[in-house]
Amino acid sequence: MSGVNLSGIVKSYGAVQVVHGIDLDVAEKEFVVLVGPSGCGKSTTLRMIAGLEEITAGDLTIDDKRMNRIAPKDRDVAMVFQNYALYPHLNVADNMAFGLRIRKMPKAEIQTTIADVAEILGLTDYLERRPADLSGGQRQRVAMGRAIVRHPKVFLFDEPLSNLDAKLRTQMRAEIKRLHNRLGVTSVYVTHDQVEAMTLADRIVVMNDGRIEQIGTPMELFNDPANIFVAGFLGSPPMNMVNGVLTKNSAKIGATEVKLNGALANHVGREVVVGIRPEHVTLKASAKTSPLPITMDLVEPLGSEALLHARFGKQEMVFKAETKGDIAPLWNVDKVHVTTDLVKLFDAQTGQALNLRG
Ligand SMILES: Nc1ncnc2c1ncn2[C@@H]1O[C@H](COP(=O)(O)OP(=O)(O)OP(=O)(O)O)[C@@H](O)[C@H]1O
Ligand SMILES: [Mg+2]
Repeated sequence: MSGVNLSGIVKSYGAVQVVHGIDLDVAEKEFVVLVGPSGCGKSTTLRMIAGLEEITAGDLTIDDKRMNRIAPKDRDVAMVFQNYALYPHLNVADNMAFGLRIRKMPKAEIQTTIADVAEILGLTDYLERRPADLSGGQRQRVAMGRAIVRHPKVFLFDEPLSNLDAKLRTQMRAEIKRLHNRLGVTSVYVTHDQVEAMTLADRIVVMNDGRIEQIGTPMELFNDPANIFVAGFLGSPPMNMVNGVLTKNSAKIGATEVKLNGALANHVGREVVVGIRPEHVTLKASAKTSPLPITMDLVEPLGSEALLHARFGKQEMVFKAETKGDIAPLWNVDKVHVTTDLVKLFDAQTGQALNLRG
């Protein structure tokens, strides 16, 4: 298949294996985000695709061509780094033109390409400036421009936004998404920021300790995490997790029973971890909810909603509640109502998701 294909990709540094055999198909034009905690092997995997790290074992193909032994410059990929890596002594136009000159593109063609890409990125007025005279966001745009002018088959991004402040990061995130919608270039994007992953990705790859935990669309991963790691990693604030035991029709958490519909009868006594997303509670009871008694610790207003920090027994939990003006009454909340069909169950030993309610 075309696109980027990783099959059994392994990376070792000396005797230490850090990527343990990764299988991943990135379809043509797809935007795939690798996300995971620091040190899980995201950059290493990306750099193996770029050709900046040797592949210890496994196969890498781009558009069906095996790339393991192909030099970086011949892979037709362009990489955008966190630290921009611009030439400080060259102006914006020359920074973007640099790779094209090396490839001996005719001068006139370089000029029109630079003009086009500068227009797309809103850099037209800055072409004569040096990087030192640009803002962080503008520098990041130049770095992207340098990648775009080459019309590569694949864009590789390694945390391109992490040097920017929060506001600019949100803005540039939207720009990258628009750019991808417009150019449709196959992209692999590395971040440890789960919001960036959720908002940008066609599909997210959650990595942990040199392995893939789960691959899926943002909503697949959010709604149906394969295990506790993925459940805890995606979503902000993270999913509340609490130990429980299954009864015939509920998950018993201490003295509290969260009613669950479904085929639980064969699993009575099974130890589970019960996962409740902060969003999946209401303040009013209904036929589809089950009450959870809490002691309020802190109410944090966010505007249209508030974060309720509460204790359930000894467990700290966080819930989200809508607010319409006054937050004072939220301090008096002494139970939340859990939307029962959105509760997640995980095996307490393996951490794998359980679907007992099919
Ligand atoms: N040159 C090297 N020699 C030995 N070990 C290395 C080398 N480069 C990376 N590693 C190790 O490989 C593992 C994966 O590193 P990698 O840079 O891919 O992580 P990452 O997921 O990108 O993390 P971060 O979010 O912090 O950038 C880490 O444990 C790291 O210490
Ligand atoms: Mg990294």
